[in-house]
Amino acid sequence: MWKGRFSQPTAELLQSYSESISFDWRLWRQDIAGSIAHSAALLKAGLLTEAERDAIVQGLQAIGAEIEAGTFQFKLELEDIHMNIESELTRRIGDAGAKLHTARSRNDQIALDLRLYLREECDALNAVVRDLQRALVELGARNAEVVIPGYTHLQRAQPVFFAHHLLAYVEMLDRDAGRITDARRRLNVLPLGSGAIAGSTIVLDRELVARELGFPAVTQNSMDAVSDRDFAVELLAALALLAVHLSRLSEDVILWASSEFGFVTLSDAFTTGSSLMPQKKNPDVAELTRGKTGRVIGNLLALLTTLKGLPMTYNRDMQEDKEPVFDSVDTVKAALAIFAAMLSEARVNAQACAAAVADPLLLATDLADYLVNRGVPFRQAHEVIGRAVALAAERSCPLPQLTLADFQTLSPVFADDLYECFDLRTAMAARRAIGAPSPENVAAQLARWQSALKQNV
Ligand code: ARG
Repeated sequence: MWKGRFSQPTAELLQSYSESISFDWRLWRQDIAGSIAHSAALLKAGLLTEAERDAIVQGLQAIGAEIEAGTFQFKLELEDIHMNIESELTRRIGDAGAKLHTARSRNDQIALDLRLYLREECDALNAVVRDLQRALVELGARNAEVVIPGYTHLQRAQPVFFAHHLLAYVEMLDRDAGRITDARRRLNVLPLGSGAIAGSTIVLDRELVARELGFPAVTQNSMDAVSDRDFAVELLAALALLAVHLSRLSEDVILWASSEFGFVTLSDAFTTGSSLMPQKKNPDVAELTRGKTGRVIGNLLALLTTLKGLPMTYNRDMQEDKEPVFDSVDTVKAALAIFAAMLSEARVNAQACAAAVADPLLLATDLADYLVNRGVPFRQAHEVIGRAVALAAERSCPLPQLTLADFQTLSPVFADDLYECFDLRTAMAARRAIGAPSPENVAAQLARWQSALKQNV
């Protein structure tokens, strides 16, 4: 492509060092769509005849069909997807193909391809985010009666509906979808027409190209347009946080599926066995997802670090953006899909949950609230209940087995209705504030999400 200036061929070592076709071939659809739109602008500018433009479009479509069918031969010595397609087009249709790169550079071409690719992937990602939200809501709805201990510091804290716990992830995923949508909005701008750095003396109708490709806007500074990868960073950041959410969910699933908790049984289809220990049923999906989060966070850091020292404008370093971008998109999409499938087959063990939530200490705060409702300042009430808990521990008896006389030595405010605090149903029903897990609130949240997810928000 640059043979005019050079008298020596590129060293083979450099060819294999600098090629990107081994991974950027994935951008073939976007590259072809961009070239077809570009040819419309060249036609309008009078730089192509109708016949040349038709030959370009048909030639590109034929190449696309071969790539799709897996019969197209990519060549390493043609470096990247842009040169592979253009040179094959020119080999097939001659001069019309050689006119296609007028007023265009691979710098604005790759910026365009990446934006087109990520725009589609944002939609695909959000669709699987919604699938996982749906799976979480349905798992909650199927087990709407189940109450489990909620944990802080991984110590039993207060009772919550299992569905309430799952709905926490539905909220997180909703913010993730919002971040993806936001990234999509900012990347949805046409960079083509920026040339290598300073546009071109050949003036094309960029707005026409934008319309052809469905971009609502065109970039306003050619230097920014060829060197900007903010949109890729933004999406990788959104995906890193999304992966962190999946990793935390993984950790919960791993705990729930352990014999120590026993809250959830995963189906055989989504667990693996041990080659040595016949009894094992391992939650590998969750472990792998937790592990892959390291890669997804690493991809964000890799891209930021690649961009950090770059002078304006395009630098070849930027070719290193593609692999982390592809990897994060692929990894997160796969994790979301497998989690949705795994959770739709998960079973909740109501008995194990009931046994765990029967721990009366989970209601110690409710007992403090009992005193508060009878005029005791909360700090004092907290201390009184702390003493009661210590007394029960000293006697190795459950808290509700302390007698009324025992309680009254700690505070005269106690009456025999204090034992009603240990009723789980009453305790749950009392948690009525917005966002708290009363049965009515949780049912309303499940219904809200069910209807929102029906419309694919
Ligand atoms: N393969 C290149 C990349 O991914 C395309 C742009 C190349 N531009 C250049 N001036 N060598 O960044």
